[in-house]
Amino acid sequence: MSAERTLVLVKPDGVQRGLAGEIVSRLERTGLQIIGMKLMLISEDLAGRHYAEHSEKPFYSGLVSFITSSPVVALALKGPSAISTTRKIMGVTNPVDAAPGTIRGDLGVDMGRNLIHGSANAEDAAREVALFFDDSELVEYDRAIQPWVVE
Ligand code: RTP
Ligand code: MG
Repeated sequence: MSAERTLVLVKPDGVQRGLAGEIVSRLERTGLQIIGMKLMLISEDLAGRHYAEHSEKPFYSGLVSFITSSPVVALALKGPSAISTTRKIMGVTNPVDAAPGTIRGDLGVDMGRNLIHGSANAEDAAREVALFFDDSELVEYDRAIQPWVVE
């Protein structure tokens, strides 16, 4: 299938715990290509737009204060099935239920400290990549290993 883009955030807990490199590495090892990456503080406004779908949920205010509390590492990844591959490597939302071998299953123990965000579907991915990255921050480049990653 043709390449997809997805947005990943190493959340504040991942950066504070010194797990940003480990998390990026697990995703990078799949063969997905990093086309954007930066450390940034998320503003209230950006958090509100990013998590708009959850604005009526009871956990919303805690989620916004957490995601704006300390820097995140934002990544734009590209490759075949980038969205579902990333979600599979992340594991399910609650780390208690996430399978061993996944980022949340191996590294987390609490729903509100689940280390990573990944876009849920193609529509969200397009919206979220554009929310976090200007076009000028996304770099399209050839990799010599590409034929060894994708047939
Ligand atoms: P994310 O958006 O962060 O990638 O996570 P997700 O799709 O797996 O989960 P989602 O349903 O979109 O929820 C967004 C984040 O809100 C927190 N949450 N807390 N206390 C709760 O019931 C609850 N439910 C969700 C989690 O940190 C989740 O990642
Ligand atoms: Mg979500």
